[in-house]
Amino acid sequence: MHSARHLDSRAIDIAQSLRRRGREVWPLLRRNADLGQVVTVHRDLPNERAETAAWRAGEPIFLPGILGDAPKRFATEIDDCLQMFDRLRDGGEFLDEVEARIGDDDNLRYAGSTVDQDDPREVERIFVNAEVDDAVVAEDLWAKLAWITTEEVDASLRIRFSNGLDQQEEWLATSDQTVSWVDQFALRTFPECRAVLSNAALRKRLDRLIARRYRLSERIIYNNAPGGGAVFHHDAEPSQFGVVFTQLNGRTAWFTMAKPRLAKLLVRYGMRNARQAIAAMDSGCDELVQDILNRDASFAAMLAANGGLFLLQAGDAILLPSPSFQACAWHSVVAVGDRPSLAHSYGIFGRADDYGLAGDPWLARSPGSTRSIHG
Ligand SMILES: [Fe+2]
Repeated sequence: MHSARHLDSRAIDIAQSLRRRGREVWPLLRRNADLGQVVTVHRDLPNERAETAAWRAGEPIFLPGILGDAPKRFATEIDDCLQMFDRLRDGGEFLDEVEARIGDDDNLRYAGSTVDQDDPREVERIFVNAEVDDAVVAEDLWAKLAWITTEEVDASLRIRFSNGLDQQEEWLATSDQTVSWVDQFALRTFPECRAVLSNAALRKRLDRLIARRYRLSERIIYNNAPGGGAVFHHDAEPSQFGVVFTQLNGRTAWFTMAKPRLAKLLVRYGMRNARQAIAAMDSGCDELVQDILNRDASFAAMLAANGGLFLLQAGDAILLPSPSFQACAWHSVVAVGDRPSLAHSYGIFGRADDYGLAGDPWLARSPGSTRSIHG
């Protein structure tokens, strides 16, 4: 599947002619790296067979328009959120924003704030506890506001919801009752989560692909700003099946493909062999490979020509499966357009019996669903 096409300098005249015919052509610029341009070519949902094969291979699955009219139905909440990010970018207080959103919540109680002096990207972390009938049922739930990078040219912000210590070991060891409240914290603070969590079409596809009880957690609200985005990485963690990323406003471009195929392209681009390419990718600090993956317009064109470039607009989703560390969807994001956008990213995890005690729209039986795999 190939939803977008990269245009190099030789194709600028094509881009101009597309523009004259009213088609959208967007420059791909991230932190001063010029990665060419992107234009939408086609926007078809994959059939079941292609989708299943992609899921198993760790290949990205582009789901254009899967959210239906949700971006319109939640336009007020989405707009409120964009304005909130604008205020935060201008130095507004994160706590004031959270207080205005859930200050009178029935269950969530403010428990303190911290700023990590060792992480220059972190702005503030706000902690809440969850209470039911005056008893604390979950502690140390947090929302962390952070810049995506320390580079000034990229003003992208994100808010991540989690709990306990930031170390992976802790959030993986957490009970599902606690993560249920973390997810509730995200939902109550940003009600536009329902645009994703109440979506029957997305739910149907994920139910079929995952085929076991699961939850959408570690929720992140993204406000990618022009000239910004995320460099190539993966999110393959133990117990995480993948990521579902949904665009609620504006656009993002994605370079993404399964790790083995990405390594093969690096070999075609001059690396000695796949083993060397994979070792360089895994090291995370191989400057040559980092440059090729993130700053090289010719390699970007190669990715695009091999189906590795997607343009997401409001209402679209992309799934990033991670069936294993060896075969997972590596991805990088480029903010597209002239103002910051809004998107949600949720991790997909297996679910225990004590998840859902706090309630989550995702667990409701989806309309038209003929089977139920949740309990
Ligand atoms: Fe990611």
